[in-house]
Amino acid sequence: MYNLVVFASGNGSTLQAIIDNINSENLKANIQLVVSNNPDAFALSRAKNANIPTYIIKSKLSSEIDSELLEVLSHYDIDLIVLAGYLKLIGSGLINKYTIINTHPALLPKYGGKGMYGMNVHRAVINAHETKSGVTLHYVNEKYDSGDIISQTVVDVFPDDTPEDLATRVQRAEKVQLINVLKEFEK
Ligand code: GAR
Repeated sequence: MYNLVVFASGNGSTLQAIIDNINSENLKANIQLVVSNNPDAFALSRAKNANIPTYIIKSKLSSEIDSELLEVLSHYDIDLIVLAGYLKLIGSGLINKYTIINTHPALLPKYGGKGMYGMNVHRAVINAHETKSGVTLHYVNEKYDSGDIISQTVVDVFPDDTPEDLATRVQRAEKVQLINVLKEFEK
């Protein structure tokens, strides 16, 4: 059993997949806290429904967010931080103290970087007429989407796909891949 903190900015379907796998005892982990920069994130409702404590970031500047979170997280026993659709850059304080992984909905190093999140990624992949996209699980460093890659899953892109079609296919693969990676951290 190990302790996770999950950061999420939006819908939280990735968070939900982690919660569901913990509840079904497929994943032997505890979520200590769900952190969000967005008070309206549906991820926060998902956490509350699962009786998981939540924290909403107050600061706006990246440097201040880093110190704020260092203080908040110091009250928890944390083995791993998972960025599950979290859209802010992570500061050096957190990076130096914790192991942090991110799930990205494309085959990095393509379609990564600032502004490349969620549907923006899938739109860019479709506009470039790619025939393959996928999921990248990677460690987090101080630049967007550029830490060491843990694993990737390739997903087909079909000629008549809309960004929404591709998002659905990628997110299905993403949840399977993330849970497999999280199971590796059980050891
Ligand atoms: C996920 O597909 C995740 O990979 C992506 O946002 C989605 C969040 O969905 N993250 C990024 O694009 C980060 N660069 P969710 O809110 O339903 O979990």
